[in-house]
Amino acid sequence: IPLVEDVCEAHGATFKTRKLGSYGLISNFSFYYAHHMSTIEGGMVCTDDEEIYQILRMFRSHGMIREANNEEVKNKYISNYKDLNPDFIFAFPGYNVRNTEVGAVIGRNQLKRLDENIKKRNKNLALFLDGLNKKLYRKDFILEGCSNYAFPLVLKKPDFEFRDRLESHMRKNGIEFRRGNAGGGNQMRQPYLRGIVKNKEWEKYPEAEHIHHFGWYIGNYPDLEELKILNLCKLLNDLY
Ligand SMILES: Cc1ncc(COP(=O)(O)O)c(C=O)c1O
Repeated sequence: IPLVEDVCEAHGATFKTRKLGSYGLISNFSFYYAHHMSTIEGGMVCTDDEEIYQILRMFRSHGMIREANNEEVKNKYISNYKDLNPDFIFAFPGYNVRNTEVGAVIGRNQLKRLDENIKKRNKNLALFLDGLNKKLYRKDFILEGCSNYAFPLVLKKPDFEFRDRLESHMRKNGIEFRRGNAGGGNQMRQPYLRGIVKNKEWEKYPEAEHIHHFGWYIGNYPDLEELKILNLCKLLNDLY
């Protein structure tokens, strides 16, 4: 099974001392502005497979072969499609997802602070988890190799009534949150997978289901003050 690593919000994280993004056949990183580093929008795909690399270069630019930088790849298309203008051969249905020079300048400058910012993010996370009430929330996360994006708040036990109270408590106190953690919880429940994934298939994945209903992301960022984290924990614990 080819491994595609989604490292969109885990820049710099490691597993067994190796950086995430270096294990898979392909890995992708996001530079969306809430993430560890940003080019305002955009991201990066990594691979050490030459064929995939050439395809990716084409993909990001309308699927056009002139974006490939391997002459052999380009010439193959040119000789197979002699009726086409070589400057406009669309090998794949693609979009325009090219980033800009301005984005590159912003991103390369952020790169200089990335390691330092990851340490600050992880320190914030440790303080957050330490402050949570262990009767209500999960605290036993493995933090080795972690590069925290957002604070994971996960109920210990399933409880819809408590969940709704907690959400209105957070709203009332101006705490922004995202239920389902990264990207909308259990993906099998999302409309784009209905019809592909069997109905109720999602019920076979109790951990994803638990996070879907009883897990949240709360924003973390390098300059987040300690006092704010302590106040956040107090507010979350007060709801007992
Ligand atoms: C796990 C994961 N993958 C992919 C994405 C999408 O990243 P982007 O908005 O840069 O396309 C996100 C977005 O936050 C994410 O959380």
